[in-house]
Amino acid sequence: MEQYAIKGGNPLVGDVEIAGAKNAALPIFAAAAMTDETVYIDNIPDVRDIDVMLDAMRSIGVVVKRISRHRVMINGGNIHNVTVESDGCKKIRGSYYFLGAFLGKYKGAEVVLPGGCDIGSRGIDQHLKGFRALGAEVIIEHGLVKARTKCLRGSHIYMDKVSVGATINVMLAATLAEGMTIIENCAKEPHVVDVASFLNSCGANIKGAGTDVIRIRGVARLHGTDYTIIPDQIEAGTFMFAAAVTKGDVTVKNVIPKHLESITAKLLEIGCEVEEADDCIRVVATKAPMHTQVRTLPYPGFPTDMQPQITVALALAGGTSIVTESIFENRFRYVDELVRMGADIKVEGGDTAIITGVEKYTGASISVPDLRGGAALVIAALAAEGFSVVDDIKYIERGYEDFPSKLQGLGAQIEVAETDKDVQKFKLKVG
Ligand code: UD1
Repeated sequence: MEQYAIKGGNPLVGDVEIAGAKNAALPIFAAAAMTDETVYIDNIPDVRDIDVMLDAMRSIGVVVKRISRHRVMINGGNIHNVTVESDGCKKIRGSYYFLGAFLGKYKGAEVVLPGGCDIGSRGIDQHLKGFRALGAEVIIEHGLVKARTKCLRGSHIYMDKVSVGATINVMLAATLAEGMTIIENCAKEPHVVDVASFLNSCGANIKGAGTDVIRIRGVARLHGTDYTIIPDQIEAGTFMFAAAVTKGDVTVKNVIPKHLESITAKLLEIGCEVEEADDCIRVVATKAPMHTQVRTLPYPGFPTDMQPQITVALALAGGTSIVTESIFENRFRYVDELVRMGADIKVEGGDTAIITGVEKYTGASISVPDLRGGAALVIAALAAEGFSVVDDIKYIERGYEDFPSKLQGLGAQIEVAETDKDVQKFKLKVG
C-alpha cells in the first residue's frame, strides 16, 4: 500500500503550477456527452476521479480519447446505454451528472447512487426535486436513481438548499428542455459558471450563472466545441495555506485571483503577506499565524473544501480560534490525526472546532480520512518536527495532480513509499 514518507521542517518556497478544476471537469464531461458532435476539452487535471468518470463514459459507448495528459476528445454520438453503474461511479460524486445530462438528451437515465468523500450524509433531494419540476418521473430502485419522461418542460424551481451539484444537474437537464427554466437560490461557485460557459459554447442559452438566479432557455440540440477548464480554486488554496503553515513563500500560477478572494482574505487576517497579479498569487509567511474565526459557506464565502487546511494553520496560531463547518455534518474526521501530531483541538456538536494554538506539530504515523482532510494532514506533516508516514493516500490522489512532486518542487522532503523498507530508506537519505 502506497504511503507518503515526509520529513517536516522545510519552509515551502517557489512557484507551483495549478491544474484544471476537477469539480468543473466532471460535470463538463457529462455535458460533453449531450451533443452528438465532437468536443475537445483542455486543462483537465490528471487525477483519479477524472479517470473514473471517463472510463464510465467509455463503458456506455462514448468515444473518449486522451489526446495528451490535459486534453481530451469526447464524442457522445453513439451512446448505447443510459444506465451508468460501474463500481468506480459508486465511489465518486460527479457520476450523478449523467442524470441531468441524459435526462436532457435522451429523456431518461439510470445512475448508481453517488459516493464521494465520507463527510456526512449527502442528500440528492434537490436534484430530484428539480428533475421532477421539469416533468420527469424519478424513483430510486436497486441502488440506482432512475429518471424518465416523455417530454421535459421548462419550469420555475426554488432550491431549498444552496447546492453545487443540484444547481449544475438541473441546469444540464433544462438546457435541452422545452421552454424557459428559472432556478432560484442557485450555487454561485466558479465551477457552476464554468459549466454554464461550456454549455453556452455548445449552443445552450443560459444566463445568470454566478448569481442566485439562473435562466435557461431550452434549445433543441447542442454542437461541438473546444473549451478550456478553469484552474482549480481548491488546489491553489491548498498550496497558499501550505505556505502559511510552513512559514514559506509560495507563488501559485495559472489561477484566477477573483476565485480565491475568500481564501486570500483569511490569509491576510492571519498575518500572511499576499501579492496578486493577473494569473498568479504569492503568499509569504514570516511568522506563526494569528488566531481568527472562520465559518464555511457557499461561494463567495469561505469554501468547505478549504476548512481542514485553515484548521491546520490555526492550530499553530497564538490564542484560540473557532472553525465552524456549516455545509457538511462530518468534516472534522482528520482532527483526531492532527491531535496525534500535537494539536489542541476540541470538536463540539460535530460542526465547531475550538482550537487552542500550539507551538509546533510533531511527526507521526497518520491515516487520511478523505480528500481535503488528507491534503491538510500532509501540510501539517511538512511543518512538523521529525518524520511522518501518511497512509491511505489514494484519497488525496482523487483530487490533487502530482501532489508529492509539486511539493518537492517547493523544497518539501516527501516521497511515495510502497513498503516499510522504502520508508526506512527515506529516513536514512534525509537524515
Ligand atoms: C460539491 C463538491 C465538493 C464541495 C461541495 C460544496 C463536487 C464533485 N464536489 O459537492 O467538493 O465540498 O460541492 O462546495 O463538485 N444537499 C442536500 N440535498 C441535495 C444536495 C445537497 O441536502 O439535493 C446538501 C449536502 O448534503 C450538503 C450541502 O447541501 O450538506 C451542499 O452540498 P452540495 O453543494 O450539493 O455539494 P456537492 O455537489 O455534493
